[in-house]
Amino acid sequence: MNGFFMPKCLTFGKDISNITFTERIVVKTFKTKAAYDTTVKFYEKYVILNTDQRQFPKIHGKNADLNAVIFENCGHLLNLWNLPVDWEEQFNTLRTFFKTKGVLVLDIRFMPHTPYVINNICVKNDRIYLVDLGFYEEKTAEYIDSYFNALIRKIHIYNACKNWKCVLFTLHILFYIYWLLTDLLEKIVKAQEDKITLLYGPE
Ligand SMILES: Nc1ncnc2c1ncn2[C@@H]1O[C@H](COP(=O)(O)OP(=O)(O)OP(=O)(O)O)[C@@H](O)[C@H]1O
Ligand SMILES: [Mg+2]
Repeated sequence: MNGFFMPKCLTFGKDISNITFTERIVVKTFKTKAAYDTTVKFYEKYVILNTDQRQFPKIHGKNADLNAVIFENCGHLLNLWNLPVDWEEQFNTLRTFFKTKGVLVLDIRFMPHTPYVINNICVKNDRIYLVDLGFYEEKTAEYIDSYFNALIRKIHIYNACKNWKCVLFTLHILFYIYWLLTDLLEKIVKAQEDKITLLYGPE
């Protein structure tokens, strides 16, 4: 499998202007102060050191003037061939973390162009880490459950047909269209709710 369909890491992103990797650390420079703050605040608000730290890269240093953060290097992007044996249990630990905090990172999903790689999750020594904390919202336990149920179901399905390229890519395209439609629907509903709140005030 080549690097296009199975990248080990991305060296670009919508939030970062520069990223450098060494064996032990990753230095991310964010494009904006807002993007830097969002990530730093996630740690300050939700990640309790030594308790919740296991699923997130450690922060080794930061510089607010440069919008840069030095993270622990958490290995390569998760794909269908480097899934740890207990991957489902590890995703469930992540699910429990989010349910406890009432928040959810919303871009844990297969990359749009490939059914092999899950974006924003890295794996090192058979442990998974969520490395991109730039897009999260407060969500209910029910929402978080259905998000993780769908993700875990999808990994099971993709994993079961990972050796049948045509089936896998067809499924991926169908799932992607489904995701686009549900995402659009969710945005329309949210816009309507915001409009009602604006007109009549909160409940
Ligand atoms: N701590 C880390 N350890 C290993 N690799 C990492 C780490 N942080 C980021 N990466 C790699 O760098 C890539 C880009 O980082 P990140 O996802 O934070 O950028 P982004 O601009 O927020 O991307 P996106 O377009 O998903 O919003 C990741 O997909 C991953 O391959
Ligand atoms: Mg990312």
